[in-house]
Amino acid sequence: MSRFTLPRDIYHGKGALEALKTFEGKRAIVCTGGGSMKRGGFLQKVEDYLKEAGMEVELFEGIEPDPSVETVMKGAEAMQKFQPDWIVAIGGGSPIDAAKAMWIKYEYPETTFEDMCKVFGLPKLRTKAKFCAISSTSGTATEVTAFSIITDYQKGIKFPIADFEITPDVAIVDPELAHTMPKKLVAHTGMDAMTHAVEAYVSTANCDYTDPLAIHAIEMIQKTLVKSYNEDMEARDAMHNAQCLAGMAFSNALLGIVHSMAHKTGAAFADLGAHIIHGAANAMYLPKVVAFNAKDETAKKRYGVIADYMHLGGKDDDEKVELLIDYLRKMNDALNIPHSINHYGADGLPAEQGFVPEDVFLERLHDIAANAILDACTGSNPRQPSQEEMEKLLKCCYYDTEVDF
Ligand SMILES: NC(=O)c1ccc[n+]([C@@H]2O[C@H](COP(=O)([O-])OP(=O)(O)OC[C@H]3O[C@@H](n4cnc5c(N)ncnc54)[C@H](O)[C@@H]3O)[C@@H](O)[C@H]2O)c1
Ligand SMILES: [Zn+2]
Repeated sequence: MSRFTLPRDIYHGKGALEALKTFEGKRAIVCTGGGSMKRGGFLQKVEDYLKEAGMEVELFEGIEPDPSVETVMKGAEAMQKFQPDWIVAIGGGSPIDAAKAMWIKYEYPETTFEDMCKVFGLPKLRTKAKFCAISSTSGTATEVTAFSIITDYQKGIKFPIADFEITPDVAIVDPELAHTMPKKLVAHTGMDAMTHAVEAYVSTANCDYTDPLAIHAIEMIQKTLVKSYNEDMEARDAMHNAQCLAGMAFSNALLGIVHSMAHKTGAAFADLGAHIIHGAANAMYLPKVVAFNAKDETAKKRYGVIADYMHLGGKDDDEKVELLIDYLRKMNDALNIPHSINHYGADGLPAEQGFVPEDVFLERLHDIAANAILDACTGSNPRQPSQEEMEKLLKCCYYDTEVDF
């Protein structure tokens, strides 16, 4: 038996934020990040609409990018005090993911972070509150997914929490929120969405319900991401929907090792002063993983189908895979994303000398590879890498060398 789960309601299109006026409840806690939603005037609108719906509103602000376990615990405490029956999270993937984890702790105060990370092992939520997610970036699609990514900074590792229990009740996909995104954020989150769609399509858990969503998302992202990056606002609106479709696909078809590697490299060099931003990590690793997975016949055929939908040409599947890899790399060029970790600057832009020195990378390679294999996303990858293969793959991602194994 398979399961396909999405939020009960997805409000989309310009003005979708107004759906909040129709919510029923007594108290809503609004969780958000560092200030972009306030500056854009969206936070005020959320507060006003919820008050118009007759609710008492409290804010939990300042959730940092790549949220920590500590922030989750603090937010859950605020919820315990306020006792909301609605949790409304607005912003990028970070505040929404943090709010999802806070929700678990609020409903089950005894739960530890380790308990939360047991894949598909959460107890029943919604005994105290329902959850609404309003996304302001066009990438993670956490507004419709069963995932939340929280960073344990002591271990330097991102942990995915995965369970349909944390699929939000309501998603609001209002493209106006995405208009204020700076270019770099458009690029990174957009390639995150592309990776979601491609990984979902070749995942071993793909099915007839997820395939159309993944393929249509890929077609839309191909048409609109670079335009959106170049400030075409119609394309940006379309990207906001495309990333959500990709999310609907991967929340049910799961992902693959691009994400395992991104999760395990993201914070692994945080002591050197920077993160490898999630979307940028995916963008760099995706072409390498396509080459690795294409050694599996089923995956190769599926990449061929993707290439066909993208009208890339190619006389057989081998050629189609090559053309797909080339196309993804050209997208990275058009979006000013480096091809490899050794050219990944601390600001996320291409640099002659990246912020991760070679000796540090090699020193940590064994552990990163071992952690990536253990990541929850590895299980649904079409090819299961050994420790040696994962280390080789990560090296290709560091030096931008060809994957021929
Ligand atoms: N839950 C999932 O299914 C899932 C999937 C992929 C990634 N993730 C996680 O999501 C996080 C990344 O989320 P993200 O890429 O959305 O970025 P983010 O939430 O970390 O935000 C990045 C920065 O952009 C700013 N920002 C957000 N929206 C803006 C807007 N409209 N205008 C201007 N500035 C804005 C934020 O204030 C922040 O400084 C990572 O932790 C990643 O691991 C989760
Ligand atoms: Zn992602």
